[in-house]
Amino acid sequence: MKASLFLVLPVVYASWLNNLNYLSPSKRHPQFSIEYRHLSKRDLVSFKGSVEFKHGVASGDPLPDAVILWTKVTPATETTETICVEWSIFPEHNPSRIADSGHVLTSFEVDYTVKVEARNLCSLTTYYYKFNVCNTNQTSPIGRTKTVPRTGDHVPQNLKFAVYSCSNYPAGFFNAFGNPARKDSVEYVIHLGDYIYEYKNGDFGDGTNISRIPEPNRECATLSDYRTRLAQHHTDPDLQLSHQQFPWFIIWDDHDIADNSWRAGSANHPENATAYAKYGVSYASRKANAVRAFYEYLPVRQVSLTDTLRIWRTLQIGDLVDIFFLDTRHYAREITDTYDNTEFIAAIADDQSRTLMGQRQEEWFYDGLMMSNATWKVVAQQIVFAEINITEVGYQNYTFDFDGWSGYRSNRDRVLKTLYDAKINNTIILSGDSHANWVSELTWSNNSDYDSSTGEGAIGVEFAGTAVSSPPIVPGASDLLLNFATQKIINTNSNEHLKWAELVQRGYFELEIGYDSSVATYFGLNVTEQTSSEVQTAQFSVLSGENKLQRPFGGVKAGFLRT
Ligand SMILES: [Fe+2]
Repeated sequence: MKASLFLVLPVVYASWLNNLNYLSPSKRHPQFSIEYRHLSKRDLVSFKGSVEFKHGVASGDPLPDAVILWTKVTPATETTETICVEWSIFPEHNPSRIADSGHVLTSFEVDYTVKVEARNLCSLTTYYYKFNVCNTNQTSPIGRTKTVPRTGDHVPQNLKFAVYSCSNYPAGFFNAFGNPARKDSVEYVIHLGDYIYEYKNGDFGDGTNISRIPEPNRECATLSDYRTRLAQHHTDPDLQLSHQQFPWFIIWDDHDIADNSWRAGSANHPENATAYAKYGVSYASRKANAVRAFYEYLPVRQVSLTDTLRIWRTLQIGDLVDIFFLDTRHYAREITDTYDNTEFIAAIADDQSRTLMGQRQEEWFYDGLMMSNATWKVVAQQIVFAEINITEVGYQNYTFDFDGWSGYRSNRDRVLKTLYDAKINNTIILSGDSHANWVSELTWSNNSDYDSSTGEGAIGVEFAGTAVSSPPIVPGASDLLLNFATQKIINTNSNEHLKWAELVQRGYFELEIGYDSSVATYFGLNVTEQTSSEVQTAQFSVLSGENKLQRPFGGVKAGFLRT
């Protein structure tokens, strides 16, 4: 009798709802979430077969006292039975002192993912965590994570972030994810979007010769497609290592759903009958599928139970830095450049009504900037902010990237006006999306009241990073051609606020934030083989209160500088 009670109890006390993925992304939006009320009525038959943790572990969105923990289990055979998972988190130097723990259920309805929030943690503290199948020794790898300092507290150390964008599985190896883990060189990771790409093999990156064929090998549209693609990413050893070792902050960009998307469609998937016939789903359904899979597979906290799709959020780290994570892509973006309408978008790019973020997000962002008491304001967002004339790249007659902030100039001006009018110091914008490195000083589009040689008149800086593995902006172009174009872009008069451009390298950058200065260090690396070797391609620093890059620029080993 005792033995059978022992077997049953953990399942009885394990909770559906403590697995946040049954609410994914919000219990107030049943079209996105699981009907857990029905689930809770069904017989709790626990799966007795063997279970593997093939997708590693991950943590994310740490607060001073909490962090999201993630894993996925794989039953040896397909089953409709539930799997009970036990988790625990403990401090670095005292494994026997469990800080928080629990039992949760998972099942096929959430693709066997597990996402929980660990609470009652101490601030700025390293923790380890693990999962196991209840009452078995089937155990996950042990993950490491770290909480952030309490809001307003003095932060006793500089904080380092690895910053990423555009991780394209068939396009190359994810060395960029593994290297900071191998160096143990950062505390936290920021991913600015395009964690996955939606394409079939060969459409944008061909993994045939490196055994990296995307799964499923078709363009993602259904829930199963996006889950399968995300699950495959979690099997990559470099990505697993990064997730296992660092807490992540992630936002999405277009390819997490579909190329050059906006709030109601994308380049390949306008909301029309032809696209419906092609993909078998409407764009709205496809978007809901991708969003649900994103929440299931990434250690991201649901910001608001009443606001579908909201991933824009603020993280306050002591009194050192406030990080504003924006959604310029899927939340409220007006129509973007979908390749067939470039001239039209160019013609309306200055229209006052055009917004990347929507009124509610814009107001939250400007209020947050103006009310911030932190030394630094870091804006983690998807697309290149500075106005960069790219005519010299010679790609499809583009003059500007109208899918970036240059297609929404009045929105950019509203950001700049907020910074200038309120005299907000120490703003650093982080950008991805372009698969190239761009370092700029923030100034009005016409560069009025800005001295390019000294940086006087600028109101902040932008660090835009290249892709983890996605190809350069002109697919197939030789390094020679890309460098030739880069040199011309740097020397274009209207680009005088652009200080460094580099179009050849794949990689990432590390951002170190301290009270006196912030430093961005760029790394380039090879993606055609698994390797830990990398080159430091550039380093730029910003002194507190200066709102411009520190001169003279030095240490640049790739790309071109404007001095
Ligand atoms: Fe991308």
